[in-house]
Amino acid sequence: MARIKINLSRLLLPKQAEIWRNMRRFTVVAAGRRFGKTRFAVLYMFVQALRKRGVYWWVAPTYKIMLPAWRLMRYLAWTIGARINKTERVIELRNGSFIEFRSGDDPQSLVGEGLSGLVVDEAGKVNLELAWNESLRPALADNLGWAIFIGTPKGKNTFYELYKLGEPGPDQRPDWASFTFTSYDNPRVAASEIDAARDLLPEIVFSQEFLAMFVQAEGSVFKREHYENRRALAEYEFVATYISADTAQSVAGGSSFTSILLAGLTAKYKLVPIYVHRRRLEFPQLQSALEEVARMPIAGLDKRLLKGIIVETKSAGLSLVQNMRKTADPEIANLIRPFNPTTTGSVRIDDLTGVSQRKLIAALEASVWGEKGMLHLPAPDSDLPWLHEFEEELFDFPSSVYNDQVDSLSQLVHYLQNYLTEGYRAGQRKPELTAAGGEYGR
Ligand SMILES: Nc1ncnc2c1ncn2[C@@H]1O[C@H](COP(=O)(O)OP(=O)(O)O)[C@@H](O)[C@H]1O
Ligand SMILES: [Mg+2]
Repeated sequence: MARIKINLSRLLLPKQAEIWRNMRRFTVVAAGRRFGKTRFAVLYMFVQALRKRGVYWWVAPTYKIMLPAWRLMRYLAWTIGARINKTERVIELRNGSFIEFRSGDDPQSLVGEGLSGLVVDEAGKVNLELAWNESLRPALADNLGWAIFIGTPKGKNTFYELYKLGEPGPDQRPDWASFTFTSYDNPRVAASEIDAARDLLPEIVFSQEFLAMFVQAEGSVFKREHYENRRALAEYEFVATYISADTAQSVAGGSSFTSILLAGLTAKYKLVPIYVHRRRLEFPQLQSALEEVARMPIAGLDKRLLKGIIVETKSAGLSLVQNMRKTADPEIANLIRPFNPTTTGSVRIDDLTGVSQRKLIAALEASVWGEKGMLHLPAPDSDLPWLHEFEEELFDFPSSVYNDQVDSLSQLVHYLQNYLTEGYRAGQRKPELTAAGGEYGR
């Protein structure tokens, strides 16, 4: 068999080489976005799979997040003529090693045995609490397999607990080594780009995502304290309702979520979510899902209040708008409002944040309306089962695993900002009599 020579010192960035030299059986790397975590672990796994025949697993929170690693691994495999199964996301090397890609989306898929190596990418976002102790750790036992956990921190969750096990100090476990680096430690990423992200992001988000600090970041963009005055949905009087859809791009191996938000504008031009329809939908199902929400009977709501169905004309949205105009009922087709947001700012931080810059800015803008009291959440109720998941994503954003619900909300806020502005101004205006002074105290 031909020998494959790999010159690691040329392939690795300095900090990656530092990890490689000092890692142990269980290694945790908590580092900022774009540090080079994924690239490091792909190279490591590839080399180990070549060296030792075995089964190796790459686990990531979702198929979408897994994509860059899968592409790089596939490329490496291709250079040595390995067999690649694209549908199953499995690579078979000539020595009989298998490298398998699995999504933490589906806990069932994390049950296995006889693993020689494991990488958990974006480990902060994988629900490791059960998976690690009950299935992954035992699966590594037979072959004395190794594991690497890489990711940006996400509060003090299980990833943090694992990080602590290998943190240098008196409590460090012998089998564990933990490392932490910031995004600035990657010489291939311009510091000016990271600085630009710093200007844009709330400080706590920046500390977590780029400086890799384990901060409690709950409510870092949308703050819970701004949504505390809740009222029952039935108490609101709506003058108009709108539907806002964030259509997902389908990803091979599993489509991501599409969320369709129905929200109402009150007489005082405050915005209140009424219902969220959230499913993994393929393109052909999008239209019927939108129609379903548009027709859905909701207690106390007159369907004639529906004043617009806002669909972003990006990715799947454009064809959706075109199709609906041709084929939907006229009463629904007439409500379609293609939405083409203009990009603000010139900083390119898409790669840096995982959330596109445009969507991040839209969310930051939407959160300001929450702060001003123009965006309300209804009081929890058994009639609103969607609310919990909606809040969870809202207050986790941008560290949330998914952004579809926040995106559909931000889009609607953007679309309605003239109303929100008017409503806010009206609320601020002092009564005229007071302003005139003369009638004061009557
Ligand atoms: N060893 C390396 N050599 C050259 N470029 C690298 C290396 N490691 C990472 N990079 C580059 O740095 C960027 C971030 O790498 P990535 O592994 O995706 O980071 P992370 O997973 O930490 O967000 C990518 O553009 C990648 O090409
Ligand atoms: Mg990565």
